[in-house]
Amino acid sequence: MKKKIVSVILAATMVAGMVAGCGSSNSSAPAAAPEPAAETKEEAAPAAEETADAAETAQAAADATTGDLSTKKVGVCIYQFSDNFMTLFRGELENYLVSQGFSKENITIVDGANDQATQTGQIDNFIAAGVDVLIINPVNSSSAETITDKVVAANIPLVYINREPDATEEQRWQDNGWNVTYVGCDARQSGTMQGEMIVDLGEAADLNGDGKIQYVMVEGDPENVDAQYRTEFSIKALTDAGIEVECLTDQVGNWQQDQAQQIVANALGQYGEKIEVVFCNNDAMALGALQAIESACRVVGEDIYLVGVDALSEALEDVIAGTMTGTVFNDHFSQSHSAADAAINFVNGETNDYYIGCDYVKVTSDNAQEILDMVK
Ligand code: BGC
Repeated sequence: MKKKIVSVILAATMVAGMVAGCGSSNSSAPAAAPEPAAETKEEAAPAAEETADAAETAQAAADATTGDLSTKKVGVCIYQFSDNFMTLFRGELENYLVSQGFSKENITIVDGANDQATQTGQIDNFIAAGVDVLIINPVNSSSAETITDKVVAANIPLVYINREPDATEEQRWQDNGWNVTYVGCDARQSGTMQGEMIVDLGEAADLNGDGKIQYVMVEGDPENVDAQYRTEFSIKALTDAGIEVECLTDQVGNWQQDQAQQIVANALGQYGEKIEVVFCNNDAMALGALQAIESACRVVGEDIYLVGVDALSEALEDVIAGTMTGTVFNDHFSQSHSAADAAINFVNGETNDYYIGCDYVKVTSDNAQEILDMVK
């Protein structure tokens, strides 16, 4: 598994260096540098302004050392507000940032409306506004390189969330020692857990008794590594357990309930009773799949199985009622808190690991109530 957050407390000299680097451009002579005589002569700036600059620098240094966050500005870019999971995530992120000392009015959260051009414009605006840190859930993970370049050039620390940039991009942060990190869970784990829930059913999973599991896969946005890994690893868990599988159809539902409902309704129309398992890359789509399953008068747990990921309250209620076989808790508390903690470290002049992970939790009828009590 990947690493945990590691906070490195910088020595006073490094804090001073950070302040000089991120602060106003003419504050290049902090208290430790006593003799900028020539520069001072050339400068037409009146003494009062210099005093104000010095006071500002001292205040910034004090803020960095004491961790006073109330005046710090955070820009948060969410790929799409209508996404159920990201709605939970951003609500918790804002609450936690406030609980850690940020002022609510200094936290700006914007909706990328699932359009990278829109989001890029929002990032430009945040840069122009001089935010102290950015937390970005990219619309397209493949745009991370461009995003990183402009944010780093503006000397603003950056925390990516939820949509992981690729390994080459993460390596670049490390190679250049940039204040950039990614916070998220390893989607291979959630896919594996989905598959294991079906493996754990034993022979009962093979409803038609033909020695293999016929399934339908409903994928999230295929550009997103969460969708790719969940699709691959859910099935790998079955084949690793020696179970033969047959994919009846594998389609993209873009994380959306309505799209999944349509896909599964069509699949049920085409393949009927052949379908034994419906795998959905997230719960929103599993809820859509369930609508289609119920409309087709099929009964989860009796003549079909259904698994999702996220542990949305509605899905947990379905797991408790038996109308969903299981889900996987995508811990938005841990992820949003880690993202905020990483942002705070950056704001305080500390560093973070380049990858900050968290664990998923398998949810079946055994623990669904427990998870529901936690998320509600
Ligand atoms: C969640 C999905 C969500 C997606 C957004 C995933 O981790 O499981 O529900 O739509 O992130 O990027």
